[in-house]
Amino acid sequence: MASLGVNIDHIANVREARKTFEPDPVTFALLAELGGADGITVHLREDRRHIQDRDVYLLKETVHTRLNLEMAATEEMTSIALKIKPTMVTLVPERREEVTTEGGLNVLKHKEKLKEIIQQLSDAGIPSSLFVDPIQKQLESSAEIKAGWVELHTGKYATNKNEAKATQLAIIKETTAIAKSYGLRVNAGHGLTYQNVEAIANIEGIEELNIGHTIISRALAVGLSQAVKEMKSLIVNPRKNNCYV
Ligand code: PXP
Repeated sequence: MASLGVNIDHIANVREARKTFEPDPVTFALLAELGGADGITVHLREDRRHIQDRDVYLLKETVHTRLNLEMAATEEMTSIALKIKPTMVTLVPERREEVTTEGGLNVLKHKEKLKEIIQQLSDAGIPSSLFVDPIQKQLESSAEIKAGWVELHTGKYATNKNEAKATQLAIIKETTAIAKSYGLRVNAGHGLTYQNVEAIANIEGIEELNIGHTIISRALAVGLSQAVKEMKSLIVNPRKNNCYV
């Protein structure tokens, strides 16, 4: 059975919308763990649009499960990872103008650079995973440069419909088996939802699913009416039952 890594970047997105102290991703990581998360994933982006350095340092101290740090393959990020020592680093491509990670890494093209970073992290005892599209050549190159793990991009499976979706599912199944045959361990993620996760979770050989957007959306759906109820009760009954001050 695949384990669940919860991506909490969107918590930081809400905080950064106001540049304030709430909601704090550190608190929400603990809540995700209480809910059964097997790991916490955060992406420290070069432009710091959501997760901040402080979050990653604190999460390293407070996460009880596993901390997966997603980052670009840059010197700056490698030096931060070497200081923080997360449980795992997932290397992802990063473009400033993108809304979220759009595609997998081109491991073939950036083999030498990725190899060097994987080695540096490995020397410090940090395993690396490469976020790749489910393409055999990318997996071959990932194994060649000794990435212990790959995370297969499930975005095309998530966005396609009907036959095309079934084709993408078959590709993910097949490439999982290929990756395993190269000695790679396999995670998967991106675009997974409450509606589409089961078929991916059933694939033999996938160890962890990294899921963010849909879980944070669901948290808003199941939490909003309670939050409104609490605010309403303070307005109707000022001070009588204010447990927030
Ligand atoms: N895996 C990687 C490498 C990602 O970049 C993201 C998005 O931050 C996810 C998984 C989670 O994707 P989603 O938010 O669509 O569940």
